[in-house]
Amino acid sequence: MKVLITGGAGYIGSHTAVELIEAGCRIVIADNFSNSSLEAVKRIRTITDSEVPCYFADLRREETVTRIFRNERPDAVIHFAGLKAVGESNEQPVAYFDHNLGTMIQILKAMRAFNCLNLVFSSSATVYGDGAQMPVTEDAPLLTTNPYGRTKKMIEEMLMDTSAAYPEMCITALRYFNPIGAHRSGLIGEDPLGIPNNLAPFVTQVAAGRRGYLQVFGNDYETADGTGIRDYIHVQDLARGHIAAINKGKVRNGYHVYNLGTGYGTSVLELVHMFRFVSGRKIPYVITKRRPGDAAVSFANTCKAEKELGWKAMLGLEDMCRDSWNWQQKNPAGYRSDNMMEVETS
Ligand code: NAD
Ligand code: WQD
Repeated sequence: MKVLITGGAGYIGSHTAVELIEAGCRIVIADNFSNSSLEAVKRIRTITDSEVPCYFADLRREETVTRIFRNERPDAVIHFAGLKAVGESNEQPVAYFDHNLGTMIQILKAMRAFNCLNLVFSSSATVYGDGAQMPVTEDAPLLTTNPYGRTKKMIEEMLMDTSAAYPEMCITALRYFNPIGAHRSGLIGEDPLGIPNNLAPFVTQVAAGRRGYLQVFGNDYETADGTGIRDYIHVQDLARGHIAAINKGKVRNGYHVYNLGTGYGTSVLELVHMFRFVSGRKIPYVITKRRPGDAAVSFANTCKAEKELGWKAMLGLEDMCRDSWNWQQKNPAGYRSDNMMEVETS
């Protein structure tokens, strides 16, 4: 099977690329490198000791996507490409509609034109919004509160309509919870540009001394220690979830949606303590006010993925923190080789 991985140079795409190759698939990556680096592709080649064809491509462009399909004739697509920062999506909603909806539409058009029938799409737990019953199941109402989340909800609706019109296709939306961690080799990992928006990369950079301290966004939630609870999932477990979904797509059709999480909730302070344990470093933090739009608690009911995909997360919080720390230590400036590191002091 040949799989086109859009956004394959990115954080989750690069880990999935490695897993796909190790599972015996041929892959081709297409990415515009707006939030990633060619170095990630080189490292996928190193880890897997294989040629990894890669297109530098803006997937909003119809002729570009058509050319890739004409050259490569993929059997399946995993569509990771898009923009993903919730805060930025409030400031630049049109860019989010353009990249997230625009790339999806072009991929669907090319899949129809080239009779490619197997699609896996990166959705997000953010589609559930605040107030869902936890652990949340796939049939919960979608009440997302930000433009980024709305692009995921809109795409899921587009995919449902597409599936209804073309029942020979298999379309799978995977709703990721909070992916963290890195490949065990320490060669690929999460490499946010600028100040990280998410907890785990921020904590990693504090442990490394690249940032002065962590701001804990609120300790007055109704949780055991008052801080927000999330379902952190190792990126390698997440990558395996894509292999399960793409394989299932070979033998069935229809539209399917799954939560990919561990089913366990971890508080901000629990994550900080685990990180301190695995790194042996101090993680200074200050409690600040809540971040607007944050849910108190979010974790997955994963029964559907277990039952239908035969997939279950295997790695725990210690593995996630240890592998993030390994990646950080081996790549203090991420994929950038200039060794320019930002240091903040408190
Ligand atoms: P990422 O930013 O590392 O990867 C996305 C990739 O898409 C990047 O390499 C970027 O350069 C590329 N891209 C963006 N616009 C493009 C365009 N127009 N044409 C071609 N390439 C383009 O993000 P990630 O964390 O790997 O996330 C992958 C997918 O999973 C995204 O769709 C994201 O919304 C979704 N997701 C991520 C998380 C998370 O916490 N990381 C959680 C839920 C869902
Ligand atoms: C986790 C917890 C924060 C940073 C986001 C997107 C979601 C998905 C994953 C793409 C919360 C707290 C955070 C910090 C903190 N991405 N926190 N200090 O908000 O659950 O999900 O990423 O689809 O759509 O919304 O993840 O890592 O930002 O926050 O205290 O500096 O850490 O309040 O409780 P979130 P996160």
